[in-house]
Amino acid sequence: MIASTIATALWAMGPAYVPNNAAVLAGGGDPIDGGREWRGRRLLGDGKTWRGSAAGTLAGVALALVLNAVVGPASGALGVSLPTFPISVALALAAGAMAGDVGASFLKRRVGRERGASFPGLDQLDFVVGALAAVFVVAPGWAGDVFTPLVVVAVVVVTPVLHLGTNIVAYAAGLKSEPW
Ligand code: CTP
Ligand code: MG
Repeated sequence: MIASTIATALWAMGPAYVPNNAAVLAGGGDPIDGGREWRGRRLLGDGKTWRGSAAGTLAGVALALVLNAVVGPASGALGVSLPTFPISVALALAAGAMAGDVGASFLKRRVGRERGASFPGLDQLDFVVGALAAVFVVAPGWAGDVFTPLVVVAVVVVTPVLHLGTNIVAYAAGLKSEPW
């Protein structure tokens, strides 16, 4: 019961998890805010780029297509009925995750945190809030079926652990300049 809830949570959030990691690998180029400032601070900062955001969104959609291709065997192997991702859902999860991350950077700059500064809680859940909000707006029926209250609780509990883990690995591998 707990295992199948976590399996569903991880599967359904996959297309929202990958964008952040892909953005780290692909980041660089022009910042989204074009260097603009607001009240003496950058709007978003150099850590939010067009290239990173586009690559992240594409990576999330690509993962959804891969998961769709293996949903039958994966469901059978785990004994759980895992969902497939309509393209609108895949886009909402991936772009919503990126938007949540961008929104968090906006808030971090407003409270004076420089690029790369940690903001515990916000850093781990910004993309979850963005992805869930987007998918409930774009595909409320699908989202309501998949993201039951129990699955949402599993997402909120498991995601920070997973996110910190992958960021520590990316930091140790020299891909990221901070371990968060
Ligand atoms: N990245 C990007 N575009 C995005 C998100 C991330 O290019 N939309 C890349 C940037 O190279 C960024 C790296 O991925 O530096 C790590 O992402 P993140 O931790 O979200 O950014 P930070 O540099 O820590 O900046 P911030 O303080 O704004 O979160
Ligand atoms: Mg960061």
